[in-house]
Amino acid sequence: MEKEYVRCRIEEGIAVVTVDNQPALNALNAPTLTQLDQIFESLAKNQEVKGVIITGAGEKSFIAGADISEFIQIKGEAAVGFMNRGQRIFDKIEAFDRPVIAAVNGFALGGGNELAMCCDIRIAAENAIFGQPEVNLGIIPGYGGTQRLPRLVGPGKAKEIILADERINAQEALRIGLVQKVVPRGQAVEEAKKLLRKIMGKGPVAVKMAKKAINEGLKLSLREGLDLEAQGNGVCFGTEDKDEGAKAFLEKRPAQFKGK
Ligand code: COA
Repeated sequence: MEKEYVRCRIEEGIAVVTVDNQPALNALNAPTLTQLDQIFESLAKNQEVKGVIITGAGEKSFIAGADISEFIQIKGEAAVGFMNRGQRIFDKIEAFDRPVIAAVNGFALGGGNELAMCCDIRIAAENAIFGQPEVNLGIIPGYGGTQRLPRLVGPGKAKEIILADERINAQEALRIGLVQKVVPRGQAVEEAKKLLRKIMGKGPVAVKMAKKAINEGLKLSLREGLDLEAQGNGVCFGTEDKDEGAKAFLEKRPAQFKGK
C-alpha cells in the first residue's frame, strides 16, 4: 500500500489537512500532490465540512518545497506538464468553495509558500520562514509563485524574494502582508480553528460569494469585478439567510443561518 503522505481529520465541521513527508521536511513529492488532490476532491463533496486548515507535520516545517530529488529526471518540455499538474491542484484548493486557512508551522519554501498563498488566509507560527529558493536550483517557481506572490506583496518585494532568494521571517511576512497573524510556536492550527469558528458563525452563502468575488475579481478589471460583486449579492439577497440576518439584527439576537 502507498504511504500516507497527507492526513485529513474532520472535527466539528473543520477539516485539518496535514502534509506529512518527514523527515524530508514535508517536501511535496508526486504521491503527496496526488493525495492532496484526492483529499480536496472528497472535501468538496462533504457538506459537513465548513472550513479547512492546511498544515505540515512536526514543528520544523510546513512544507520545504517540491521534492528536489524528483527534478533530476524531468527535462525540458516535460517540465511544463509537471508544473501544470501542480498548478491545477493548487487552483482547485484556491477555488474551494469554503474558507481554507494555512497554518504555517515552520519552513514554507517553494511549493510550500505557493500552497500557503492558495489559501484564503495565512497564520504563521513565530518560527515560520517563507521563501522561493528555486533560482538556487537554476529554475523558477512552478506552482504559482511568480503570479500569486506579486499579487500579495507587490512586484518589487516579490522580485527580491524570487530573484535573490531573500528569506522572510514571520514578523516580516506580517509586515508585508504575506501572512495575517503571527502566533507562538505550536499555536498556528489552534488560531486557525478560532478564526474558522468565527467565519462559521456568518452566513455560509455570503462567505462563499464574498470569497468568490475577491478571488475572481483580482483577475478582472474594476468594472467587471464590481459586476461580479453585484451578482454575488443577487444570490445572497435570494436566500432565507438574508431575511434571517436582517430580522435577527432588528430583534437584537444572534442570527441562526441555514446556508440557504
Ligand atoms: N526536497 C527534497 N528533500 C528535501 C527538501 C526538498 N525540497 N527539503 C528538505 N529535504 C530533505 C533534505 O534533503 C534532508 O534529507 P536527508 O536528511 O536525507 O539529507 C532533510 O529533508 C532535512 O533537511 P536539511 O537540509 O538537513 O535540514 P536543514 O534544517 O539543514 O535545512 C532547509 C532546512 C529547509 C533550509 C533545507 O532543507 C532546504 O534548503 N531545503 C530545500 C528548500 C528548497 O529549495 N525548496 C524549493 C524546492 S523547488
